[in-house]
Amino acid sequence: MKKIVFLLPFFFSISLFSQQKMNGNNEMEYFIRKLMSQMTLEEKLGQLNLPTGEDFVTGQAKTTQLADKIKEGKIGAIFNVKGVEKVREMQRIAIEESRLGIPLIFGMDVIHGYRTIFPIPLALASTWNMEAIEQAARIAAIEASADGINWTFSPMVDITRDPRWGRIAEGAGEDPFLGGAVAKAMVRGYQGDNSYAENNRIMACVKHYALYGAGEAGRDYNTVDMSRIRMFNEYMYPYQAAVEAGVASVMTSFNEVDGIPATANKWLITDILRNRWGFDGWVVTDYTAIKEMTDHGIGDFPAVSAQALMAGVDMDMVSEGFVSTLAQSLKEGKITEEQINTACRRILEAKYKLGLFANPYKFCDIQRAKIEIFTAEHREAARKIAAESFVLLKNENQLLPLKRQGTVAVIGPLANTRSNLLGSWSVSADLSAAATLVEGLKSTGGKNTKIVYAKGSNLMEDAKYEERVAGAGHTLYRDNRTNRELLDEALAAAKEADVIVAALGEASEMSGESSSRSDLNIPDVQQDLLKALVKTGKPVVLVLCTGRPLTLTWEQENVPAVLNVWQGGTEAAYAIGDVLFGDVNPSGKLTATFPKNVGQIPIYYAHKNTGRPLQNGQWFEKYRSNYLDVDNEPLYPFGYGLSYTQFEYSDIKLAAHKEEWTATVTVTNTGDRDGTEVVQLYIRDKVGSITRPVKELKGFKKIEIKAGDSQKISFRITSDLLKFYNSDLDYVLEPGDFEVMIGGNSRDVKTANFANWTKN
Ligand code: BGC
Repeated sequence: MKKIVFLLPFFFSISLFSQQKMNGNNEMEYFIRKLMSQMTLEEKLGQLNLPTGEDFVTGQAKTTQLADKIKEGKIGAIFNVKGVEKVREMQRIAIEESRLGIPLIFGMDVIHGYRTIFPIPLALASTWNMEAIEQAARIAAIEASADGINWTFSPMVDITRDPRWGRIAEGAGEDPFLGGAVAKAMVRGYQGDNSYAENNRIMACVKHYALYGAGEAGRDYNTVDMSRIRMFNEYMYPYQAAVEAGVASVMTSFNEVDGIPATANKWLITDILRNRWGFDGWVVTDYTAIKEMTDHGIGDFPAVSAQALMAGVDMDMVSEGFVSTLAQSLKEGKITEEQINTACRRILEAKYKLGLFANPYKFCDIQRAKIEIFTAEHREAARKIAAESFVLLKNENQLLPLKRQGTVAVIGPLANTRSNLLGSWSVSADLSAAATLVEGLKSTGGKNTKIVYAKGSNLMEDAKYEERVAGAGHTLYRDNRTNRELLDEALAAAKEADVIVAALGEASEMSGESSSRSDLNIPDVQQDLLKALVKTGKPVVLVLCTGRPLTLTWEQENVPAVLNVWQGGTEAAYAIGDVLFGDVNPSGKLTATFPKNVGQIPIYYAHKNTGRPLQNGQWFEKYRSNYLDVDNEPLYPFGYGLSYTQFEYSDIKLAAHKEEWTATVTVTNTGDRDGTEVVQLYIRDKVGSITRPVKELKGFKKIEIKAGDSQKISFRITSDLLKFYNSDLDYVLEPGDFEVMIGGNSRDVKTANFANWTKN
């Protein structure tokens, strides 16, 4: 009762004010100023606190006594709470039982879909289809918001050139230009026009700022050390692109940058993100990132909490450093009240923009949860996008597509699993809702195709290792038979088959967070199985499930067809059938280079030339930059992916205009099937004030071409595409000579030159 008496005058005065037709921002400012004038220091610090709920676990620490803390005004937002009814109840406690009735934000890692799971982000990027990526994010937002969520910890845009790092699965791969485009598409998909006028748009959070993908040796959470020139030219753009798209929030990363953990790095958060890029949303830490700075060794808990605030962090995820130490630090004069007010205001602004003050239950419509989640329409979109993400790595003698006849033996530890087709970060998925590959092929193979199945092997020999990757409900049903028994059963199944589909690779949790690997082969017993299957002489199609580039040198040499299906989400099994049986012609292209062996890592297409490059495609030459035991080329280059048809590229025609060039090629579908091609534009800046990469992606177009048809594709080359950060970190255009390359991947390109670009 006491509460209501308090609230009524507060909201009454605000609503009277609203009637005075102020513009939106002034109205918000007035509202928040007024609200903050009534808040105690503790309540302000409460707004900066982001604890975890208990519906699933995404880190090591827990938060206790959530309901009490909400009542006491000690929480600003919560994540890891699942289900609209639970969300509604927590919101009710905040509104009705806390002193000021300030609504909560509800966050979640909605990374590649909510209940309808789309392919992992690395696979989504492989579609090179920005409309499809935006649509996936849009559907994720619709489903999440129908279940009470209004903030997602996505997109993850960390560039990485190291597939040992398991989190390569969560981003768009190695290229900043593509990564920036994907970041923008995802922010648009989640946030729409940034007005949050509808209750099915949610706030996005770009992460992990910054450089998290460049950890040493591919080990998660590891040290990053890089020059600022490299940072700005190769790693920063996707974060900036998300900011340009209006992303509501930014998450700091676990790693250090220039010797200072990102979460306490003022240069990163204030100088670059806010002052240089103009970001005006709120900054949240990663899970316990404040607490972890004591282990980084930059101070005790109160000191690191204060440092995070002073660097520009607004919200503390799980550490509870802000709520528990900042009042004392303020007393001691280590931080200012203004710093606390600034952070608090940013969070209240987000709540205002989301419309939570107008209607705290805006995202708590129980009816929506019943009808808008995992709908036939969403699943259809997921199936189509999954099929578009698959990358055909090899197809000898056109083994694929398969005919819908005869017997197909589906063999492998990933053939009969549901949860392991989803990929990591499927926290909101129903892990039993996806079809297994066996079911998917039965459904898509038609009545004239007989499907037989055998497991063939466990995921790996080492049961303990397998246990580590069968977590989070992604069970693998370890088979206790011997390797020999499993193999014999598989060979018997293979014997009655006309073709073998081997479903091998990585289980869902073999990539993603805390899933670094030092060996990127398909694991031991699976390789043995594959070798035995190939040895039967029957045609073998490797359906490769993976969250990262693997080393497939043996497979490329010995297996006739390899279709990389990543971890394709809830509809993956059907989508695989669509591609294997030829209803969909594959068009995915890699966005991360596949190395020949782990020793080549980091390997990426946009490398520098060095002073001693290899000449003319040779392998080894003494005193040149190369290896004794492997050549410098990747197994599959960036941008690579085959189709069931073939495309031919004409030479490039360059046309000069007043302030730009146009590069045109004609692409011809020379095969007998309609197909889709991703036409890629690369540019090399031949002479610069700093050394420049041998090529950089600067454009791409995804086009459908009917069998036998040709299409003219033109790219505008504006001065913007030629700019880079120089030694002073100024973004400049340097006039000079450039090479233009266009092709279906980063290796096989047509080349033309233009010179003497002058400043506009
Ligand atoms: C991850 C973030 C994630 C957060 C919340 C962390 O461990 O690094 O990507 O958003 O947990 O679950």
